[in-house]
This record gives sequence, C-alpha cells and structure tokens, in this order.
Amino acid sequence: MIDSKLIRKDFPMYENHITMQKHDLVYLDNASTTFKPYAVLKAEEEYNTRFTSNTHRGDYDLCFYNDTKLAEVRHTVAEFINANDDEVVFTSGTTMSINFVALGYAAKHLIKDDEILLSVSEHASNVLPWYRVSQITGCKIKFIPLENGRITPENVKKTLSKHTKIVAIAHVSNVLGYVNDIKAIAKVVHEAGAIIAVDGAQSVPHMKIDVKDLDIDFLSFSGHKMCGPTGTGVLYGKANLLEETDPVFGGGGMNVKFDTDVSVKYLSAPTKFEAGTLHLEGIYGLEAAVKYLDEIGMENIEVLEKNLRRYAISELKKVPDLVIYNEDAEAGIITFNKKGVFAQDLATYLNSKGIAVRSGQHCAKMLHHYLNEIATVRMSIYFYTTKEDIDALVNALKNGGHFLDAYFA
Ligand code: ALA
Repeated sequence: MIDSKLIRKDFPMYENHITMQKHDLVYLDNASTTFKPYAVLKAEEEYNTRFTSNTHRGDYDLCFYNDTKLAEVRHTVAEFINANDDEVVFTSGTTMSINFVALGYAAKHLIKDDEILLSVSEHASNVLPWYRVSQITGCKIKFIPLENGRITPENVKKTLSKHTKIVAIAHVSNVLGYVNDIKAIAKVVHEAGAIIAVDGAQSVPHMKIDVKDLDIDFLSFSGHKMCGPTGTGVLYGKANLLEETDPVFGGGGMNVKFDTDVSVKYLSAPTKFEAGTLHLEGIYGLEAAVKYLDEIGMENIEVLEKNLRRYAISELKKVPDLVIYNEDAEAGIITFNKKGVFAQDLATYLNSKGIAVRSGQHCAKMLHHYLNEIATVRMSIYFYTTKEDIDALVNALKNGGHFLDAYFA
C-alpha cells in the first residue's frame, strides 16, 4: 500500500514551494500538471552536470554515452506501455503527439468524404489538430454521442460508417474522469476498418496501460502529468502506421540525405519524427519518472486514487448546494459547481485558503453541450494527495460563509 504522506517527502514542492498564502498548499490540480520527485530532478541535473552532449551527431565518448542512454530510455518507456522500442517517439507532450498523427498520418491518407469521429468531451488538443485535417483534406468530422458522460462501444458503432477512417478519443476525459472502455471500442473500430488514436494524457499517469492488449493504433501522452518534466511526451504508434506517417518537422537528425534536386530520404521511425536536438534532460527526467512510477506500482496508484476519490465524493456530497457532475466516474477527477456561485469565483475563494483547483472549461470547450454549464470547478488528485487535502477542500466549501453567500444576494 502507498502512504501518500510518506511519499510527499520525495516531492520538493511540498517543502519549498513559493507561497502567497498563510495556508499550507493543497494541490488539487494534478490533471493539469504534477509535481516532480527528486529522482526526476536528479536525472535532469546529471545530464547537465555530468554528461552533456548531443545525440547521433558526435564521434566522441560523451555522444556515444548519450546515444546508448537514449536507446535505453526508449526501451524503458516502451516497456512501460508494452510497446516495441521503435514504436516510441519522443515529443514535447500530448499536443505534439496528436498533431503528428493528424498532420503526418491523417492529412496524408484521408480524402474528401472520409470521416473522423471525435466526442464533445475532447480536450482542444484532440479536436483542433483534426479540424486542421478537415480543412486540409475536406474530410468530415462527426461526433460520437456521450452516454451518461461516457463514450461507449455501442455509440461508437452507431456513429461509424463505411467512410470512417479514424476514431480519435480520450481514454479518460480531463473534465469528467470517465474511463472509456478502449479495448472494446478499438475492437468495434477495427471491425469497421478504421483506426483508433487515443489521447492518453489522463490515463497513462494513473493506470497500467498495455497498448497491445488494448489494441491501440496511436497513443499520445505527456511526461509532465506523470511526475516527469514539462516539454516531454510520447507518441506510440503501431510500427506499420508510423512507417506510413510523414514527419511534420524536418531538420537535423531525422534524414539520411537530401540534395539540390529537392530530394530527401528520411531515417525510419521513430527517428524520422525527432528533428533537431532532442530535449535530452527532459527525456532522462521522463525515464526517471517512469521508473519512479513503476517502483510504486501502477496498480497501487490506481487503487489509491480510487479509494481517495470515493472518500472525496462521500465528503463532497455533504457540502450544501454542491452540484457534482461526475459522481460515478472512475478517475481522480471530480468536477463540480456551488449553486449560485460562478466557477472562477469559487476557485478564487479556494485559492484564498491555499487550495489549488482549476475552473472554467478546462480546454474542453464543447462539453457545455453535454453539461449545460458554461464553467465548472475541477479537483484532480494524484498518489501524493492525502485525505487531509480532501478535508481542507470540503471544509473550505462548507465554510465559505458570507464570501460565498454573497453570490445569492
Ligand atoms: N490538459 C490539462 C488540463 O486538463 C492542461 O488541465
């Protein structure tokens, strides 16, 4: 079992964070970004202080060292999601990964009348790249209706047509926290002859992911939401699909040759996607994050978060006038409003108590079609969140006193 209180000692933010409040920091915005443990910071520092060099560009020991280390990190990340090493592309985050699939694969293969299926609960990063594909190719965008907030295999099946080429959905909604049954959905998608591109930003950090078992075609995720450095991310793609995907960026390190006749020969995947000098200190930090999570155990993380979520829901339900939008979701994301209080005002009030939550539309700007609310407050946990954090939130919500009452005036 994980002891969240003990685990906090691994995270310098809890000791060192800047403070503008009289209160202890209660950080409940982990769906946005997570704190980094010492192990990650050390990995980044070591690159900068002990073995700085580029990769694939030098005939000296430091460069050989980094070439070998980069291959090792790719292997560590591949094992984490049960992929093959050459199916792991290093990117700057989920956003870049999805753009690579959209612009490098979909824009190349789709034509007018083809269809891409999305849902209204998608984050901007899993909508706007596909809109660009539609603008470039003339293909259509269709939306899978939500069923009590979820994307179900049945609704995917109903929305699929012979024109559907790609289904692009989140594994876990960043607002509603429902865990979509990707394995069953992938089956339905493949039976229809389409492929599935999964936004794993809110799932990979919180549960064991096996891309082979789920039969995912493309998976995108970020390092910074799983204790890794900002500016790191991964695109997983099945080997044959990565081969059929064009690089979006051209530059050093990704080509075999080019010449004045405008000819160019790219390296094979994954290197052809990694133009320019890589964010090596970040990638090494990402490896440290993966090893750190593996050591704690993804299953343990999932269980802890489920228990904490259950506790949070039971306590939040005792708060008068609180509307919870995803009581029955599985992930550690709880979205709510207090009747009569504008979401951003509520978040600002919570901030005055040292509590960090997100308010607004959470980048999922079409979800109002489903929620019938223009803005909500979202709390999101990680394995270092404690019951005391939840208690602090609940107490603040219960004791808003005149500050919150004022809004009913
Ligand atoms: N995608 C992040 C969130 O949902 C930024 O907050």
